[in-house]
Amino acid sequence: MKKLKHYYHNHQQQQRKCIVPVITIASFLSLNFLLLFALRLTFPDSTLIFPFPLSTVLSPPSPFVESKLHPLPLPPPSPLPPVLAYLISASAGDAPALLRTLSALYHPRNRYILHLDRHSSPEERHLLATHLDRHPTFRHFRNVRLVSKANLVTYRGPTMVANTLHAAAIALSDTHHWDWFINLSASDYPLVTQDDLLHALSHLPRDLNFIDHTSDIGWKDHQRARPIIIDPGLYMTKKQDVFWITQRRSRPTAFKLFTGSAWMVLSRSFIDYCIWGWDNLPRTVLMYYTNFVSSPEGYFHTVICNAQEFKNTTVNSDLHFISWDNPPRQHPHYLSLDDMNRMVDSNAPFARKFHGDDPVLDKIDAELLSRGPGMVVPGGWCIGSRENGSDPCSVVGNTTVLRPGPGSERLQTLINSMMSDENFRPKQCA
Ligand SMILES: *[C@@H]1O[C@H](CO)[C@@H](O)[C@H](O)[C@H]1NC(C)=O
Ligand SMILES: *[C@@H]1O[C@H](CO)[C@@H](O)[C@H](O)[C@H]1NC(C)=O
Ligand SMILES: *[C@@H]1O[C@H](CO)[C@@H](O)[C@H](O)[C@H]1NC(C)=O
Ligand SMILES: *[C@@H]1O[C@H](CO)[C@@H](O)[C@H](O)[C@H]1NC(C)=O
Repeated sequence: MKKLKHYYHNHQQQQRKCIVPVITIASFLSLNFLLLFALRLTFPDSTLIFPFPLSTVLSPPSPFVESKLHPLPLPPPSPLPPVLAYLISASAGDAPALLRTLSALYHPRNRYILHLDRHSSPEERHLLATHLDRHPTFRHFRNVRLVSKANLVTYRGPTMVANTLHAAAIALSDTHHWDWFINLSASDYPLVTQDDLLHALSHLPRDLNFIDHTSDIGWKDHQRARPIIIDPGLYMTKKQDVFWITQRRSRPTAFKLFTGSAWMVLSRSFIDYCIWGWDNLPRTVLMYYTNFVSSPEGYFHTVICNAQEFKNTTVNSDLHFISWDNPPRQHPHYLSLDDMNRMVDSNAPFARKFHGDDPVLDKIDAELLSRGPGMVVPGGWCIGSRENGSDPCSVVGNTTVLRPGPGSERLQTLINSMMSDENFRPKQCA
């Protein structure tokens, strides 16, 4: 924990420095005043600006005002557990798996954005919406939302990243505060309860970004960085596979490419940076990745490692247990009962990928999550009886009370290792 203190210390110093640029902006503003109004939400300390009379504000205009904008400051340490905003995406036919993953990840304080591919049938969408609507717990807390303007998501295409950014933008527009954005699919499943996860994360600075990455792109140079693809999902109404252009392109020289896992846990501050685009880097890199095969394995990695303000917040892990064949093929193998021990021993909070009805999910429910069939994962907020198979969460207690179990200790072991001297700083954007 000494290291974390050091981390906090550096950050607080940076934050103090932030106040000076805010005042400087104020004294240089003219036309850009309106822009700052628009940015007020991202600048809790912007109230500092408004006591100045307008006449002092109208001094020399600066054409470079955007360079003085800063990322959201680190929120003050909160005694309350963090809040997570989940995106869970499903393809056509995966609505039952989506509901199961949602129940296993549920906590009343979190936010859930569900996306069902536009390719799925109206019946499937209707059934899912009806189920969410009738569920007593989801109804009560109103924290589950199905994306109504669904996207067409092409496998390996940039529409995957567009879909993630869409959900991130929806999450930002939520009036409810959250700390981390987590991108999952219906074939992911948690290996710890939300109480375990929230408890373990509550000791960490809330601007950390868990993203597995490397600049050593190896075979991906030839297979990913050089080819040029087009995703018809960007402009067609029907689903079609991506196609390749015969010409190839050079490696970028304007920024450095990073690659890694498509699964990540991103801070609110970094999401804000990617969505608002007040610095042009996230937008330029997004346009570059439009023609890149499997852009989810590179977009956020390249943005974060090329942004000075964020590269020091990276933790090089995707927090997932994924079992690749050796050598890796396009898809990881489906996990089954045989993988149970390896999954638990990995200390990871999430695993993929699973068939929707695999018996290993029942074992995870029973042994790791204490989740009854058809119920949400119980936590400190559930104060009902478990007798005769009744759902303890049908009686709601205090939602800020966490009851972490053994999963929290496993996760703490993983976090200690990720944050150690050998792993944390040396593996950042290397
Ligand atoms: C986000 O989630 C989807 C799951 O549907 C996944 O395919 C995609 O690669 C993920 N990652 C990013 C960075 O969008
Ligand atoms: C990031 O860390 C490096 C090395 O520790 C340091 O030199 C640099 O100033 C830090 N950058 C920011 C923006 O804090
Ligand atoms: C559980 O079932 C037993 C026997 O049917 C009954 O006596 C008891 O009251 C039930 N408990 C609850 C909490 O419903
Ligand atoms: C809920 O629990 C928190 C922390 O345990 C406590 O501070 C708060 O007062 C409780 N709220 C209510 C309404 O009991």
